[in-house]
Amino acid sequence: MSKAHDPALLEEEFARAQLSRRTLRRLLTYVRPYRRVFIGNLIFTVLATGSQLLGPKFIQVGIDRYLTNITSLQAAMTGIMVISALYLGNLLAGWLLSTLQVKSAIQVGQGAMNDLRLAVFEHIQRLSLSYFDKTHQGRIINRADADIDSLDRLLTWGATQLLSSALTLVGVALLLAQYDWRLWLAVSVVIPPLVIASRWFHRRGMAAYRKMREQASRMTASVAENITGVRVVQAFAREEENLERFNEVQGVYGERVVEAARVFHTYMPIVGLVSGLGTAIVLGYGGSLVMRGEITVGELAAFLLYLSMFFGPVQTMGDLYNAVLASAASAERIFELLDTQPQINNNPRAQALPRIEGRVEFEKVFFRYDTAPAEHWTLDDINFVVAPGETVALVGATGSGKTSIISLLMRFYEPQRGRVLVDGHDLQQVTMESLRAQIGIVTQENFLFTGTVMDNLKFGRPTATDEEVIEAAQKLGTHSIIERFPEGYQTKVRERGGNFSGGERQLLTLTRAMVADPRILILDEATSAVDPRTEEIIQHALTTLFQKRTSFVIAHRLSTVRHASKILVLEQGRIVEQGSDAELLAHGGIYARLHEEFFGIAVSSNRS
Ligand SMILES: Nc1ncnc2c1ncn2[C@@H]1O[C@H](COP(=O)(O)OP(=O)(O)O)[C@@H](O)[C@H]1O
Ligand SMILES: [Mg+2]
Repeated sequence: MSKAHDPALLEEEFARAQLSRRTLRRLLTYVRPYRRVFIGNLIFTVLATGSQLLGPKFIQVGIDRYLTNITSLQAAMTGIMVISALYLGNLLAGWLLSTLQVKSAIQVGQGAMNDLRLAVFEHIQRLSLSYFDKTHQGRIINRADADIDSLDRLLTWGATQLLSSALTLVGVALLLAQYDWRLWLAVSVVIPPLVIASRWFHRRGMAAYRKMREQASRMTASVAENITGVRVVQAFAREEENLERFNEVQGVYGERVVEAARVFHTYMPIVGLVSGLGTAIVLGYGGSLVMRGEITVGELAAFLLYLSMFFGPVQTMGDLYNAVLASAASAERIFELLDTQPQINNNPRAQALPRIEGRVEFEKVFFRYDTAPAEHWTLDDINFVVAPGETVALVGATGSGKTSIISLLMRFYEPQRGRVLVDGHDLQQVTMESLRAQIGIVTQENFLFTGTVMDNLKFGRPTATDEEVIEAAQKLGTHSIIERFPEGYQTKVRERGGNFSGGERQLLTLTRAMVADPRILILDEATSAVDPRTEEIIQHALTTLFQKRTSFVIAHRLSTVRHASKILVLEQGRIVEQGSDAELLAHGGIYARLHEEFFGIAVSSNRS
C-alpha cells in the first residue's frame, strides 16, 4: 500500500484551517514588493465598481425625463440619444477600468506567487538529507506545486473581489433605501432567507467539492505510481489487477462528481428562485406605488436593476470565504516547510576551508540516522587517518556502513560523537560549500540532469571549457564511448538520464567528477554497472588520477580495491581490519576470506 493512498494523509492535506492573523501578515510580506500596483488595483476596483453602480441611474433618468412625459418629440429624441451615448461611454470606461483591475490583480498575485515559489525551491535545496529521509517526496512536491497554486484565489483575487463585492453591496443597499423605504422594506423580507440559504447550500457544495478533489488526488496518485513502477507492473504481469483497482478508485470519483453536481445544479437554482421572489414583490408592490404616483417608472426600473446587482456579491463573498479557508491551510503548510531549519547549518564562526592537501581523519566517530533505533549505532567508534594523496578502499557487506562514512565526510550528516577532520580542520568549523567544492563523488545513483551530455559533464565546474572536458574524458578512457552516442557530447539527456544505460551513466558521472578536478575523490560503487573490461580500462586511468589526490573507493570487486594503499574492512558499522592488501592477506582474517572467495584461490598465508 503506498502512502499516497493512505486516507489519513489525504485528510491532513485537505484539512481546513482558519486564516490566522499571523499567516495573513506573513502572506502580505510577499505582496509588499508590489504595493504600488496593489494600490493601483484598489483604485481601479473602486472606479470600476462606481461605474457599474452608475449604469441604472442613466436608465432611470432616460425614462423619467424623456419617455414618460414627452413635451416635444424633437427634444425627447435628442435627450434619449445623449443619455444613450453617456450610458455607452460609462460602459466603455467601466470596461477599461475592469481590464486594468484584472491586469493589476494578476500582476500582484503572480508576482507574489513566483517569489513564494522561489523561496520554497531555494529552501528545499538547503534542507539536510535527514529531512528527506523523513518526509514523503510527494508531500514536498505538493508544497511547491499545488499548495502555491491554491493561493492564487487569495493573492490574486482576494483583495479586489472583497472590495468590489463590499462596495457593491453597500452601494446598492444605500441606493435602494434612497429610492423608497417601503419598497426596500418589502424586498428586505427575502434577504435573510436568501443569505442563509445561499450560505447553507454553499457549505454543502464545498463539502461535496472537497470530497471530489480528495478522490481525484487518489486517482492521480494511483496513475503516478503506475507510471513510476511500470516496469515492475509489466514484469509481474499485474496490469489486470492494477486496472481493476484503478477502476474502483475511479468509480468512487464518478459518484463524488454526481454528488457535487447535484448540490450545485439542483439546489443552487433554489437560491435563484428566492431572489426571483424578491423581484416579483418589487414588481407587484412597486407597480402599485407607480400607479399611485408615489414613485416614477424610471425609479422602479432602476430599483429592479439595482436589486439584480445585489445577489451576485453575496455569492462571491461566500465563495471567497471558502477559498480563503483553503488557501489558509495551504499557506500554513508552505510556511511550515519554510520554517523547517536545515539540521546541518554553517556554524556562525565557520571558516572557508582553504585549498586542501587531502588529509582525512575520523576520530572516535559514532553516528546513527534519526530514523534508526536509538540503541544501535550505524557507525560505531570509527577511527582512521588517510594521508594526502593516499587511496583508501572501504570493504564490507551491504549495510555495513561504507556509504555512511562517505556521507559524514561530505557532511551530509553529522556524527553524534567524535570528529571528522580534513587537513586538521574539524568539519563542524568550516563552511559546507568550501568543503564540498573540493570533493568529487560518484555513487550508484549516477543522477544526470536534463540538458546535453556536455552540460552534465560541466556540472561540477561550470567554467570548464569543452576542450578541458574532452581531455578529461580522454584520460579516463570514456571519450571514445561518448563519441559513439548519437550526437556525441551534444546528445540530449532525457529525464534522469533514461536514454542511457546504467553503465553509460556511471561512465558519464565518473567523467563529471574528473572534470571537476576535486582534491578528494570518492567512488562509491561507481563501477558496479560497468562490464569488467571497461572497468579495467577505467581502473587503469584512475590509478594515474588517484595519484594526485586523496581517494576513497568502495567496490565489491576486490580486483578494484586491492591496489589501494589502505583497506578498511567494515562489519556492522565497525572497522574490524585495517591495512594494505598484503598485510590483510597475511593477517588471514575476513579480508583474506573474501579474497579467497573472490579470486577462487586460497591464499597461502605464512601462518604455517
Ligand atoms: N538515510 C538513511 N536513513 C536511515 N537508515 C539508513 C539510511 N541510509 C542507510 N541506513 C542504514 O544504515 C546502515 C548502513 O548503511 P550504508 O552506510 O548505506 O551501508 P553500505 O554503504 O555499506 O551498504 C544500513 O543498516 C542502512 O539500512
Ligand atoms: Mg553503500
